[in-house]
Amino acid sequence: MPAPWLDPELVARGREPMHALVHDAGVSLDGTWRFELLPNPDAAPSGRWRDIDVPGCWTRQGTTDVPQYTNVRMPFAGEPPHVPEHNPTGLYERDFELPADWSDKRVVLHVGAAESVVVVTLNGQRIGIGKDSHLASEFDIGAQLRPGRNTLQLLVVKWSDATFIEDQDQWWHGGLTRSVYLYATEPIYLADVAVDAVLAEDRQSGRLEIAVQVGGVRHDLDPGWTVEARLEGSGITLSGTPASFELPYWSSEPIERGVIRRHELYGPSGMGEDQRRWDALRPHLQPARSGSLRLSTHVPRVEAWSAEAPRLYQLEVSLRRPDGSLADRTQIRVGFRSVEIRGTDLLINGERVFIRGVNRHEFDQLTGRVVSREDMRADLVAMKRHGFNAVRTAHYPNDPAFLDLTDELGMYVVAEADIESHAFQASLCDDPRYLAQWVARVSRMVLRDRNHASIYAWSLGNESGYGASHEAAAAWLRWHDPTRPLHYEGAIRFDWAGGARVSDFVCPMYPEISAIVEFAQSGRQDRPLIMCEYSHAMGNGNGTLAEYWDAIESTPGLQGGFIWEWKDHGLLQTLPDGRLRWAYGGDFGDEPHDGAFVTDGLAWPDRTPKPAMREAQHLNAAARVTDVDADRGVIVIANRLHFRDLGWLAARWELADDGVPVTAGEVEIPPIGPGQSAEVPLAGWHDPHDTGQERWLTVRFVTRADEPWAPAGTELCWDQVPLCETLPAAAVEAAPAAAAVELDADGWLVHPALAAPPALSLWRAATDNDRLAGLADLWAAQGLAAPQPGSAQVSRDGVVTSVRREVRVGASIIQHRQVLTPLAGGGVHVAEEAVIPAELQDLPRVGTVLELRAGLEDVEWFGLGPHECYPDRLRGGLVGRWSSTVTDLFVPYIWPQEAGGRAAVRWLELRGDRGAGVRLAMGAPLQVSATHFRAADLEAATHQDELTPRAETIVHIDAAHRGVGTASCGPDTLEQYLVRGGTYRWAWSLQPLG
Ligand code: GAL
Repeated sequence: MPAPWLDPELVARGREPMHALVHDAGVSLDGTWRFELLPNPDAAPSGRWRDIDVPGCWTRQGTTDVPQYTNVRMPFAGEPPHVPEHNPTGLYERDFELPADWSDKRVVLHVGAAESVVVVTLNGQRIGIGKDSHLASEFDIGAQLRPGRNTLQLLVVKWSDATFIEDQDQWWHGGLTRSVYLYATEPIYLADVAVDAVLAEDRQSGRLEIAVQVGGVRHDLDPGWTVEARLEGSGITLSGTPASFELPYWSSEPIERGVIRRHELYGPSGMGEDQRRWDALRPHLQPARSGSLRLSTHVPRVEAWSAEAPRLYQLEVSLRRPDGSLADRTQIRVGFRSVEIRGTDLLINGERVFIRGVNRHEFDQLTGRVVSREDMRADLVAMKRHGFNAVRTAHYPNDPAFLDLTDELGMYVVAEADIESHAFQASLCDDPRYLAQWVARVSRMVLRDRNHASIYAWSLGNESGYGASHEAAAAWLRWHDPTRPLHYEGAIRFDWAGGARVSDFVCPMYPEISAIVEFAQSGRQDRPLIMCEYSHAMGNGNGTLAEYWDAIESTPGLQGGFIWEWKDHGLLQTLPDGRLRWAYGGDFGDEPHDGAFVTDGLAWPDRTPKPAMREAQHLNAAARVTDVDADRGVIVIANRLHFRDLGWLAARWELADDGVPVTAGEVEIPPIGPGQSAEVPLAGWHDPHDTGQERWLTVRFVTRADEPWAPAGTELCWDQVPLCETLPAAAVEAAPAAAAVELDADGWLVHPALAAPPALSLWRAATDNDRLAGLADLWAAQGLAAPQPGSAQVSRDGVVTSVRREVRVGASIIQHRQVLTPLAGGGVHVAEEAVIPAELQDLPRVGTVLELRAGLEDVEWFGLGPHECYPDRLRGGLVGRWSSTVTDLFVPYIWPQEAGGRAAVRWLELRGDRGAGVRLAMGAPLQVSATHFRAADLEAATHQDELTPRAETIVHIDAAHRGVGTASCGPDTLEQYLVRGGTYRWAWSLQPLG
């Protein structure tokens, strides 16, 4: 007989059926356990214990088994279901006291999650086995319990047959990753309650369907047991009698009262009277097993649940004995909402809701896979504040607490089963040995989670090919939960018009924008298109997110998607010298590994948002300013929500000339209905006379009162509108000075502010996208990083100096010219031109790099900000005067790369301690960065802690900067953001300050 961890046909042994009920931990078994890490599950324990925390990954608690990161490939070689000889196995042991009043109860052990197989032993007796690292296993342990002290052992086996279908792109760990506890019920108890609460089309009433299963019924259930369900706040109480015995048909109308004669429940035996009576009865009958019951009712008045207004009702379900005493009771929170697919639209409560989603893994920088409720809440709060309304539980069922929170805070959820057979995606989904695990994983998720209003779709898993097991799982699901649509990317991967039996969505990953638009317009689309993953957030990325949303919002059939992904999975690691860093694959000596690909989130591992998060936030905005009438002092505000009017927002306006606020005031937002727009006056507005400066109106929207996820005054979105026709031309800094600029022997500008002269720059330190898409290699092969300037041809015309050079880049020659004009006050104006041959057809940048002398740290600039922006990721930026420091401008992406740029910069001032410094003004708004790192410093490093900031400030002024795109996994940037060969002209000036 194969060992249970090498037996794909074995799903579990001795495990209780999954259910949707939540039981309080009667006896919590979280805390310190005795622990020994064995080299494999068959190894004999030494009896030498150490302490370990439960829940916890042993890979994060100082054992010899370390975290390992792989994406597609398996962490070890071999064919399923074979695993390596060395198979880290945790032996956990602890004692507990059985509460004295539990002696005649049914006692259940709940193991929240064990990675990947758990074998349970109580007082030396084998109890059962559970598989599936992301769902609980429960065991009725009554038979082996002793009064008083008991000893529980959990053997947790890391590698198993199941590992091959848990091949998600994340760290591999081992351990008990969710809570372990005991609970007790009466011998006859509520085994499950499944609730469908559906909003009617009038959106004011609903239908409540409750399916109850009584457990512990050994023979027929004695007649007289009753179930009662009360819906809070509605005055509705339902009650009925569970079926006493199994019948093909059953009615909750008691037989005793003579309403239905028992023999009738077997169906008519002939025609005539019997048949007529049967036809009348049939709608009230249901198949029944002993102890089951269905209750249903129309609820005449309900408030709908939606992510915007997540109204929940408390449903209390009680089980009473024939003598009327209470045997069991449970509370379920119910939200009335409808989910429907009509044509190419997903309708929630009848509305075509845009899915502004994000993929989220269960990740914590310290504990790995163990996340606390506070942590889950903090994730959701941050998502809500950034305007997301949907989350995909990539790639497995989440901690149940997470779904309580999505119900409560309001998030549309795609709940995904714990199946990813990525390395064997062609075979395992069709391998009959794995069939039962497929169906078990999908069905157990549904049985656990079906009462959550927030779940609008079920996902059959991720990247597991498409095979018979998907068909089986989908069939199970459609039978058991006809209320929710299915999502499975594998089914549509090679044909967006196919796979409809297992996917009700066209849910591609990382499609090109043009591809989704063309498909939506092709006439082939028959289902809603919601991207399961897009806009890969690795490093300095998420380019063209705005263009995705332009397409989605303007193309019928496109309804949104889920950004990949929420957080970087950088594990906090202490280096031998005490320094801390965020580790990625390989940093623990793990082999094989897939490097930094695990760091691809909108937030850092500690949840601090990255700049791209602000772009998403802007695109997710609940409210937009769509027009301004400055003469009348009114703006038009559009409500982009689907259910809630805008009365919950407050706003402030501000008018700025050249970035300096001139006037400001409140905006009293009326309750503009969902999808509506209205003219709104700017309180306190008076049109200041035109100063000829660059004038912008900024409106910032905040929460008016406390929301469950944001205190009053939290800024949620913003908009900005120019109030000047064209951007005024850059002001001339000062009149030209009397003497020409100074050049060194090689024709380079000499200036006291400069540590290195301004030179042509064509290259950036590869972003993750550049690196993984092969652009970095291309640029290296072309020699872009080290342009070779030829000798200078200097010509003077009065005070104007022209310096021409041929700059060699590999085999190509670039003509570069700088025209240097001295300015009064010691400044210099530089006009540049670069003629780049057509064979250099994809450059990271064309511009100037210069180094300012040491000690300049404080920065102020007028341009887009306050956060980092790049040409294809700048819609969330605001034109303004911003200040920061050179250190803080930089964005420390875990793998060092081009970072910290600011777009459309008009001018930039850098100052040192005593206020003296330099002003750099651009001839036209340009992409600019100022950091303490040369591009080559960044390129050479693989972790931020390897970098040593220079005292000098390295400034890049780019006439053109390539978009950042998403090509580490997905499309590159769009054509309009590429930097091609051609003639570039730009100008800037440098002026000493103070
Ligand atoms: C997808 C996959 C994710 C992740 C992502 C890249 O193919 O579903 O789990 O690997 O690519 O980061």
